[in-house]
Amino acid sequence: MKVDPQQLMDDGYIILREVVPPELLAELRASYDTLIERQGGRSWLAGGRQPRLTTNHTVDAATANTIDFWLHENTLGVSRQLMRGPEAAVTEMWVMCSPTRDHGPAEWHRDFDSPNMAPLQGLQMDLLENGPAYVQWNIPLYDDNVLWLVPGSFRRPNTEEEDRQLRADPRQPLPGGIPVELKAGDGVVYINLNHHWGSNYGTKLRRTIHGGYRSIGGPLYPYNPQSCNWDLDRGMGFCRHLSPAARQTFEGWAERLAQERDLVEATLRTVLDRDAAAFRARLAELHPGAKGRIVCVILLSKLAKNIHTLHRPDVAGQPLEARARAIPANVPMCCFYDDLARRFSSTEAGALWQRFAELDDRLQADTMQEVPGRPERRSRYLYYAMPANLDVEEFIASWG
Ligand SMILES: [Fe+2]
Repeated sequence: MKVDPQQLMDDGYIILREVVPPELLAELRASYDTLIERQGGRSWLAGGRQPRLTTNHTVDAATANTIDFWLHENTLGVSRQLMRGPEAAVTEMWVMCSPTRDHGPAEWHRDFDSPNMAPLQGLQMDLLENGPAYVQWNIPLYDDNVLWLVPGSFRRPNTEEEDRQLRADPRQPLPGGIPVELKAGDGVVYINLNHHWGSNYGTKLRRTIHGGYRSIGGPLYPYNPQSCNWDLDRGMGFCRHLSPAARQTFEGWAERLAQERDLVEATLRTVLDRDAAAFRARLAELHPGAKGRIVCVILLSKLAKNIHTLHRPDVAGQPLEARARAIPANVPMCCFYDDLARRFSSTEAGALWQRFAELDDRLQADTMQEVPGRPERRSRYLYYAMPANLDVEEFIASWG
């Protein structure tokens, strides 16, 4: 299956027909039914507005086709074409299911969270300059038009009209929003910084494969590195159910991801050591694209913050669930942060966070910043605009 990366950069999404080859559809449906039963069946499906199963937690040899599909030419192969890295790896492997009672429309949103990422303008600049480091997929096993999105919105700030409407009612169609009409087996690959919407979490049968891929070794560092966590969360045990070739793919990825975390650690240590030359060199490895490196520095500051949090005396000895809440993150994501945190002593973690203190200050406003449509998400962190003139050299100078 051949795709045009420019189409993704222009529209922010690509609809692909028969991503699931018709001859695989029935057996994929059957395997996901088995996994859902194993997860708790109907009582599990009753547990939320969009029940979401993590495939690598429940897979066995009989249902290994669910994981294999993430390695298919039509999914992994297409994702490799869309990102500029030498390699692309699967991140989360979910299936989204219909709930047992009607929950109606969700809220329009971008998968974007300024306190844990960078201002939206920075992420957009990095992405437009260096291509995506993450692409997200929906692949329904039954006809599905739940997902809507606003084409091209990943490239720009909210319009005033969008803000007005999000404030008034985030559950109504946004201007320019379109339903993504997918037949069983079709797929949509998209940039999740686009405005998008779960338009109806109703009871109509829904089994939609959902997750994404990140580049490894590409020109930029992804804004959601914690979403690639199958290697750390419950470990690589699920691989024993896979074919030797599939297992080898996951093991190869795990090795490259571990090398990248080594590089993140090494980069953070150059900050700890106030070694400007070494920092510039490591940063250029982590983010080879010359433009957008400051965004990578901001993303590193978030990692430093989480490392610091996990070392806090009131957090460090707590069970994993409580440590995850302290970040806050979900448990699989916390496993990613844990892997980084355990590389530093608590003294180092404190000193490291100090080095980022001035940068973190620059990323915050004096007043609370609104997230239109999501009032509970307001924070002091700048939502859209990057701080004026902020660059890598200013960060280095701030170490004191
Ligand atoms: Fe989303």
